[in-house]
Amino acid sequence: MLKVLGRNLTIKCKPTVNADLRQTVEAETLELVEILAASQSPFLEQFELRRQPCGPKKIRLSIRNGEEGSGRAPADYGNPDLRDRSPLYETLPATRELIESFPLEDVARILVLVDPAGWGTPLHRDHQLPDVKQEFVWFRTSPEKQLYVIDDADVRADTLGFAAWFDSRQRHGVEQSPHPTVSIRVDGRFKADVRENLLASITPSLELGTKPT
Ligand SMILES: [Fe+2]
Repeated sequence: MLKVLGRNLTIKCKPTVNADLRQTVEAETLELVEILAASQSPFLEQFELRRQPCGPKKIRLSIRNGEEGSGRAPADYGNPDLRDRSPLYETLPATRELIESFPLEDVARILVLVDPAGWGTPLHRDHQLPDVKQEFVWFRTSPEKQLYVIDDADVRADTLGFAAWFDSRQRHGVEQSPHPTVSIRVDGRFKADVRENLLASITPSLELGTKPT
């Protein structure tokens, strides 16, 4: 089920992700973090806010395939013409199975975000472009990864299920957890029915705010 934060809207997402698959995805991604860290792989990056590294680690399961700089704009994250799968994608069979179950017509950027034990993700906005609504599925492997979104009326919405979409122009963050937590964000293009239900249903309070971060 895909839930829109701040609303009770749910979208059918088949097949339903079972607990075994979630746990396998978590195990294989945490193992990959260890392997990449040990080899200082460029596919493992430190999450940055305002160009400063902070807690979460980022594994890129997609690579940009265009000219230098292309695909970097927030409007391009979901453009499948600008990305290929990275070699790491093939090494994660459970993660591939999970991503194939998402209600996306096309898949473009794929990121795994791992918050180390004792860390969370600070409150931030992904971008502030008024005409760009990013289409993506955010998925967590465990309820311990508590994503929340705060709208411009300062109303907080917490993730309830495992798959969610939110307006990434709104402030959002992840609570600290005593254990490493894993989420996967897959940008692409929603299937038509999902787009219609999801993006058209955003309440004004979840639209772009006017307060600075
Ligand atoms: Fe974000």
